[in-house]
Amino acid sequence: MRTMNANRELWEKGDFTRIAETMRESGEELVADLGIVEGLRVLDLGCGDGTTAVPAAQLGAEVLGVDVAANLVAAGNARAQALGLANIRFQEGDATDLNALDDESFDLVVSIFGAMFAPKPFDVASEMVRVTKPGGRIVMGNWIPNDPTLVAQILKISASYSPPPPEGFVSPMTWGMEDEVVERFGAAGIPKERISFQRNTYTFHYPGSPAELVADFRTYYGPTMNAFAAAEADGRADELQAELEQLFEAQNTSEDATSIPATFLRVTVQR
Ligand SMILES: C[S@@+](CC[C@H](N)C(=O)[O-])C[C@H]1O[C@@H](n2cnc3c(N)ncnc32)[C@H](O)[C@@H]1O
Repeated sequence: MRTMNANRELWEKGDFTRIAETMRESGEELVADLGIVEGLRVLDLGCGDGTTAVPAAQLGAEVLGVDVAANLVAAGNARAQALGLANIRFQEGDATDLNALDDESFDLVVSIFGAMFAPKPFDVASEMVRVTKPGGRIVMGNWIPNDPTLVAQILKISASYSPPPPEGFVSPMTWGMEDEVVERFGAAGIPKERISFQRNTYTFHYPGSPAELVADFRTYYGPTMNAFAAAEADGRADELQAELEQLFEAQNTSEDATSIPATFLRVTVQR
């Protein structure tokens, strides 16, 4: 029987695949820059429906996608099947405890806006290091707190309409702070000289207007759905809607659809 897990419920809510569809191009570009070769063993942690896992498999890697949300694991397996890819599979698992995975079994562990959302960040760093082969790499993409671009602002605005988090809650955004990342991997035995940082951009491409994309976030993206539920209870849903529409419109760079760039911290760890 499944036990109650608020983290999993957040991501099984709605349908993240609808948002992931706007991120495919950037996922492919990022993966093309990871030096993937035929037969490389890749773990994509917090893989969703495979925005990075699928292109890694298309480049010939042997890919395992692990995600806490059962609906996204099913969606990933359906995509792999539809694409006829035999070198990728998706399974349920929690980044805080990857007990189904052997020590030192992956050449590359990728987690793009994935493991950052798990609780217990020190356990997450330790598990990512444990399953990586000596000489292998870990690459994380993490949103940056207070960054002025899209996702950090959505999460910041959403938080301002939500009740305060429970005592002891560690914000996922702390994974976007270099000192925190160094401390977490340091506790897992990785010296700071083996950790490097870059700022990269993901661009969200959507065929409709910015307001329609806000509507998709409201209907399908767990963190925004929760923020709207809290705002509705306070009679502030219209205010939240207007604030998000203003954000999306101000950041849109397309004239006839929606294209919004968002900056993230790319972390590379040499095991
Ligand atoms: C913003 S989505 C990103 C998904 C995917 N990496 C992508 O780029 O499209 C965050 C993902 O992290 C997953 N996730 C959250 N907490 C997790 C945990 N504790 N263990 C594994 N996956 C987790 C969610 O289910 C969700 O698929």
